[in-house]
Amino acid sequence: MPDNQIIQGFSKFSKDERIGFLSSRYGFSGETRDLLISMQAASPDIQKIIEELSENTVSNYHLPFSVAPNVVVNGQVKTFPMATEESSVVAALSKAAGFWAKHGGFHAEVLGTEKKGQVHFTWPGQPEKLQAAFPEIRKTLLAESRAITAKMEQRGGGARSIELKYLPDILPGYYQLDCSFETCNAMGANFINTCLEQFAQSLQNQFMVSPVFSGTERECQILMAILSNYTPKSRARARVECPDDALDSPSGEKQVAEKMVQAIHIAKNDVSRAVTHNKGIFNGIDALAIATGNDFRAIEACGHAWAARNGQYASLTDARIDNGVFRMEIDLALAVGVVGGVTAIHPLAKLAMQILGNPSAHELMMYLAVAGLASNFSSVKALVSGGIQRGHMKMHLSNILKQLTVPEKIRPLVINYFRDKTVSYSDVEDFVKTILNA
Ligand code: MEV
Repeated sequence: MPDNQIIQGFSKFSKDERIGFLSSRYGFSGETRDLLISMQAASPDIQKIIEELSENTVSNYHLPFSVAPNVVVNGQVKTFPMATEESSVVAALSKAAGFWAKHGGFHAEVLGTEKKGQVHFTWPGQPEKLQAAFPEIRKTLLAESRAITAKMEQRGGGARSIELKYLPDILPGYYQLDCSFETCNAMGANFINTCLEQFAQSLQNQFMVSPVFSGTERECQILMAILSNYTPKSRARARVECPDDALDSPSGEKQVAEKMVQAIHIAKNDVSRAVTHNKGIFNGIDALAIATGNDFRAIEACGHAWAARNGQYASLTDARIDNGVFRMEIDLALAVGVVGGVTAIHPLAKLAMQILGNPSAHELMMYLAVAGLASNFSSVKALVSGGIQRGHMKMHLSNILKQLTVPEKIRPLVINYFRDKTVSYSDVEDFVKTILNA
């Protein structure tokens, strides 16, 4: 088949047919086909679970599953499971955990768990008329969604509020139903979206049947009904504190606490630095979110919007020194679930939850905030005390050795040689060549 020909009916192909298609279009060798097979789970049951998480699967894509021990959160010692492809991320979190374990640990709290959704619609009538009729419409919307919300209400959740917003600056005649929900231990995306679609249907029906409206007022255009991943009232905070000189290193690095405060001040005021700073925060958050089967794209999107809440994208962490005490904290908007979804299906996500002690959604929100704070603490501390490259490239050395296909028997020699040197790809390559030619 020519390379640029559109393939029809691909989604109906069996896995063998999908691999066959790739093999013929991209000239796969038998070795490549074997790779796709060898990356699959040995257990057919587990393989089936993984495959059914997505569509058009041809193999499994592996990430390292790691753990960071000794994370003291509110006096309890936790082990954080982490799935990440980036070297140094687990080491950074573990290092921060070890340091703070000796200084009172992380203190974390949840500041709210309200989730949001919107029904977007246009309506041609007078806004005042709709505002006046809305209290009755709201009652009908809530009543007609009872069948959907009943179970969630039994668990203490449900639809909490529906507000009408008139936003003609965005589109002529444009309104939103701005809705809030409590979804307890669930991420609640399906619950919220089902409620919103029901609200939309009931709303349209109200314009049709209510005696208050007539003529063109019966014409409401529903544009869409969907949850919002921005949850400014679903928030967790984590903080740490210690004497400021505890951050100085015995080998001579001084005033580390002051430098960290300055570095964080820069990230609060300069967007180019803030993005990298927050990326380091999400190194830890994403790794824990992925390990526990949570939607890390939603967590990131919300976190970045929260970072821009004051009109400028800024650091998610803050730090200060009060009377010789260094204090650092993270305030994060995020929504997570611990029941349903991938968390309840993926064998390693289930194991990750077990390692964490099967936390509630509240607890997991706190752990994610701690993962972000710990990662950021290590990054910023390393950056202001000589830079990250020395430590980072050490971790990277094993990747370089693999890329250069350095024989196993000489790897210890290379690792030993670079023990007290800065690692770079070209230096490793040159050193390996010297040994091999000796
Ligand atoms: C690298 O993954 C993360 C850092 O760049 C974060 C930061 O600069 O704060 C080290």
